[in-house]
Amino acid sequence: MSHSAHPAGPSHGHRLPSVEPVIAPDLTRLNRRVWSAGVERRDGELTIAGLAVTELAAEHGTPAFVLDTDDLRRRARDYVDAFEGGDVYYAGKAFLCTAVAALLAEEGLGIDVCTAGELAIALRAGVDPERLALHGNNKSVAELRLALEAGVGRIVLDSQFEIDRLAELAAVTGARPQVLIRITVGVEAHTHAFIATAHEDQKFGFSLASGSAAAAVARVLASPSLRLVGLHSHIGSQIFDTGGFEVAAHRVVGLLARIRDEHGIELPEIDLGGGQGIAYVDGDDPQPATRVAARLREIVQRECGLAGLAVPRLSVEPGRAIIGPSMLTLYEVGTVKPIELDGGLVRNYVSVDGGMSDNIRTALYDADYTAVLANRLSDAPAQLSRVVGKHCESGDIVVRDCWLPADVAPGDLLAIAATGAYCYAMASNYNRIPRPPVVAVTGGRSRLIVRRETLEQLMANDVGWDAAAQQVPGAARVAG
Ligand code: LLP
Repeated sequence: MSHSAHPAGPSHGHRLPSVEPVIAPDLTRLNRRVWSAGVERRDGELTIAGLAVTELAAEHGTPAFVLDTDDLRRRARDYVDAFEGGDVYYAGKAFLCTAVAALLAEEGLGIDVCTAGELAIALRAGVDPERLALHGNNKSVAELRLALEAGVGRIVLDSQFEIDRLAELAAVTGARPQVLIRITVGVEAHTHAFIATAHEDQKFGFSLASGSAAAAVARVLASPSLRLVGLHSHIGSQIFDTGGFEVAAHRVVGLLARIRDEHGIELPEIDLGGGQGIAYVDGDDPQPATRVAARLREIVQRECGLAGLAVPRLSVEPGRAIIGPSMLTLYEVGTVKPIELDGGLVRNYVSVDGGMSDNIRTALYDADYTAVLANRLSDAPAQLSRVVGKHCESGDIVVRDCWLPADVAPGDLLAIAATGAYCYAMASNYNRIPRPPVVAVTGGRSRLIVRRETLEQLMANDVGWDAAAQQVPGAARVAG
């Protein structure tokens, strides 16, 4: 998946199982691009920021998400430094809890929230509301009202209805929110290429090509209760190539120039969204924040120069690139089943104690991940393996194809790299499995930041069936 288009969009096609053995890799090697900086091997055992996985498992159980906080801080700082003079909003949809929101705010990031739930977490974490941006293609009136009451710094408008709704609410409350207009720029981002126009057919934003973006600008400018401060564009996710962002920047600046020409105002901000890719497996080659920033700045400056515009404040909203590589998932192996494939090849099905309820990305997007045996080193030969979960369906796959030592056995621990983004965030209780905890590790010490769900919590909303209260009302009256 790492090399395909936006995972939340196309490309859900079925992939035939690959059984072709490639050269078995060195199973002791840790690809530094894939693992967080604090992950090492000590006496054969994987450690995170100095803490051994067996200690983590003993204290917090498995499965568990483990966050390397120094690594997270470094990634956050890299983005803030690279985009100095602009704002970096962490896209909370990738993973949000109060600890992470607070930590990222400490590092100088704002937060992109897109629901009342995400907004509530950011506020509870004490993030300055001015540093929040509210997104969403269908924000409810209640969500917009909440944002106005809280004093959210930016609201990104996504539809005509929303412009009117917010204008009305703002007029009533007397707030004059700063808003951006989300533009669909006609770029479909891929890793190595981009195809123009194809994705006009989707739900987000105002289309540039159809003229609805220009109409939205006019409508917002005609609403005295709204303050238009800029334009926004988000072209996709898990993108390695800056080409798509550059085309987006070019088109957004084009609209800024048109707004200046037609309305006589220069908007001071542009936000080019998130989408910067990360390494999940060998061969993934993401761009560092500095390079992404340099390319974007260059193109924005050039285009503004050509159009005679002052260079606007440039913001971005990375989610995956901030949190993704800083977390791993720790699972315990429960069973191992060697399955003979056509041609005599054997694949070990290694079942772990979680699965598609804590990582749906493999089933949903055909995502690739890196797995290692974490609690020990083994000198057994490499065996083609598939890491699967404990759910009741065969698509419950965590890592489709990987090499693990042939002697992986029940009780062993597996670590899956780069599970920080869109794993916990998209977790479910499928098969009534409680969600795992999230454990932060710093300087050899662990701290629980999200508790493991309990069966009691799973039961909490289940009202039950009280036979006496369920009599048919009419029947009760007749009987009476
Ligand atoms: N800004 C906006 C407006 C977005 O819609 C998104 C992601 C981001 C920023 C952050 O994108 P990132 O930097 O994390 O790529 N569930 C999918 C990803 C969906 C992304 C949705 N929008 C996955 O698991 O890959």
